[in-house]
Amino acid sequence: MTATSENAMTQQIDETIESARDSLATATPGRVSLRSLRKVYGDDKKAAPAVQDVDLDIEPGEFITLLGPSGCGKTTTLRMIAGFETPTAGEIHLDDDLINKVAPNKRPMAMVFQSYALFPHLSVFDNVAYGLKLKKLPSARVAEEVETALTSMNLGPYRDRAPHQMSGGQQQRVALARALVMRPKVLLFDEPLSNLDAKLRVQMRGEIRRLQRRLGITTVFVTHDQDEAMTMSDRIVVMNVGVIEQVDTPQEIYRHPASVFVADFIGRANFLDVDVHGVTDSDADVSVLGQRWTVPKHAAVGVDGSVTLMVRPESVRLTATEGRAVGGSVGRVLSSMFYGQSIEYDIETEAGNLVVSVADPHAHETFSPGDFLDVGFEAGRAWLMPVDGDAP
Ligand SMILES: Nc1ncnc2c1ncn2[C@@H]1O[C@H](COP(=O)(O)OP(=O)(O)OP(=O)(O)O)[C@@H](O)[C@H]1O
Ligand SMILES: [Mg+2]
Repeated sequence: MTATSENAMTQQIDETIESARDSLATATPGRVSLRSLRKVYGDDKKAAPAVQDVDLDIEPGEFITLLGPSGCGKTTTLRMIAGFETPTAGEIHLDDDLINKVAPNKRPMAMVFQSYALFPHLSVFDNVAYGLKLKKLPSARVAEEVETALTSMNLGPYRDRAPHQMSGGQQQRVALARALVMRPKVLLFDEPLSNLDAKLRVQMRGEIRRLQRRLGITTVFVTHDQDEAMTMSDRIVVMNVGVIEQVDTPQEIYRHPASVFVADFIGRANFLDVDVHGVTDSDADVSVLGQRWTVPKHAAVGVDGSVTLMVRPESVRLTATEGRAVGGSVGRVLSSMFYGQSIEYDIETEAGNLVVSVADPHAHETFSPGDFLDVGFEAGRAWLMPVDGDAP
């Protein structure tokens, strides 16, 4: 696709979204609060909870993503918010109301699924109309609302098609139209892009995010894809075996992870063994790679306790050296991989093997396996953190 046609497409989508704002905007986006939320499946009281001690405030209009490995409790949390699962303990509030006992169809929420969950025997029009008909709106009103939603989502020409006559991206757009036509206070997504090919997935990310911004609908999005979470969210909730490890903006999560699990799950990280000489509230004085460094630190890091220094691959600095043995600041190239926009090295150092990413390789001297290098890092971008037992 040429740049011009891509621009034209983006502009068309923007105009579409602009008209969608007038026709589909919710009156007031909802605030969702989860309090000590817990879910144990089945009757076995000793079974490990799928979700435990989850406390979370989702602000009106916020795009929040639940992110974590398979089985960590993302879908369970989302389904409790939607009302498809009953919490074993804890509270779910929508604005000022406790909604634990409110049936799913009585919650002003709409959910979009990975499988689209369209009715295969119904046309696009009837799929989008379904919820409004259930609400017993007069049929003229239903027709009007559905046409508006279809036009807004660029789906007008497909109104009479069956779902199987459409592409995955189009089907997902129908699912979105079906959700938006209900004018929900909260929009819930469970891995909505997983079935799409890579390029379409990236395009739909932007589309959903722009639509959400314009409409201002509170959105809870579930994914195990960190790129999706990083690029779409106002805040990310990182979950691990049923508990929340961290809730923060994508930037903060990347730069200042709360745990080794988070550091390792979001992006890539090197973990260096360091000696800690002293700490202030925000910094620590450490030695590693033959030098002293002042590095920012996690609030829980004191002089005692087990700690590790996280250094992202792009924060490592390599320079040619005269050294001929690994030790101190001297490391050795084990392997290199050329990616075009970057080059990646595995470097053996006395603090362990480091993954190093150098952007724009043509602007830098490149190194070969066996080369000895002086290894340093951007101290301000390192992060001294507690070891939480999950260290790799
Ligand atoms: N209906 C169910 N009955 C019993 N156990 C369940 C049920 N649904 C989920 N679980 C279990 O609860 C835990 C959390 O599952 P959940 O579906 O919430 O994970 P997830 O984070 O959405 O994972 P994925 O990324 O694979 O979709 C898992 O251990 C899962 O096996
Ligand atoms: Mg899931």
